[in-house]
Amino acid sequence: PRPLLIDTDPGCDDALALLLALERDELDVVGLSTVHGNASLADTTRNARSLLECFDRTDVPLAKGATLPLTAELETAEHIHGAGGIRGELPEPTSATEPLERHSAQFIVEKAREYDGELTLAAIGPLTNVALALAIEPDLPDLLDELIVMGGAAFVPGNVTPLAEANFRSDPEAAARVVRDAQPTIVGLDVTNGANVPGEWIDSLPESTALGRSVVEWFTYYSGDQLEQYEYETTAIHDALAIAGLVDESVLETERYHMQVGTDSDLDRGALVCDATDVTDGEPNGSVALEADFERYRELLTGAVERTLET
Ligand code: BDR
Ligand code: CA
Repeated sequence: PRPLLIDTDPGCDDALALLLALERDELDVVGLSTVHGNASLADTTRNARSLLECFDRTDVPLAKGATLPLTAELETAEHIHGAGGIRGELPEPTSATEPLERHSAQFIVEKAREYDGELTLAAIGPLTNVALALAIEPDLPDLLDELIVMGGAAFVPGNVTPLAEANFRSDPEAAARVVRDAQPTIVGLDVTNGANVPGEWIDSLPESTALGRSVVEWFTYYSGDQLEQYEYETTAIHDALAIAGLVDESVLETERYHMQVGTDSDLDRGALVCDATDVTDGEPNGSVALEADFERYRELLTGAVERTLET
């Protein structure tokens, strides 16, 4: 299996991404690192710990990371993910999921060195920890097998500003640094806007357990108004698509581009800019997912959920 570290800000779609990653044999989740994002760091860390408890995976080490973006103001998303940053009925964390002593950025560097080129890092929250890890270890990209990032909106509108997606907008300076230096594979709104599952399938889920009821809440975290605003049929489970792409490489089709992230004005902060017409002299510095096999994605995610709820 592919050793995988997940940098996360749970978050309802983060919860489903973690469920998928922990359920599939192709992936070996060797750690979680938390970051501010959908809620404060204290809340996202508590949520990540609770998720490990409710998936019965307290063996996975967890580090706690950046409280604030590099220079931007903290902006959280409880209006989307619920009070405390996540919906559902989560157990209180126990001492079994006590965070490590070291910071997420340090933990990322340590794991990358330990796996020496074999580790995949999936960043599904703001990129503050990854940017800090790059500052600690500029050779991080060479020490990783792959860096996959859920974030950005390359050729479609943003979800928090006309140009910017939430994870990139939450810490534009960090996103700019990571895109410039870390050769990421970007899984942004171009594909994740379609990362939903059928409403009838959600309706069929058993709600007799706390986990069953939580899963239903995670799949339906956008309100009716928000669904209308984003023109979604059902809630987009953004983060899980990035993980599905690691489980099965045929899920995502990517293109290489020279990419940059805007940091200058209120208009462009967090915007992912891809040079699709080769008008800059920039060399390609990463890839962007532009197409996805949603059928296969749905099969992977719904299968993982069904099996998790059965046990
Ligand atoms: C991203 O923003 C967060 O709210 C979600 O968890 C996801 O990582 C989608 O724009
Ligand atoms: Ca997230």
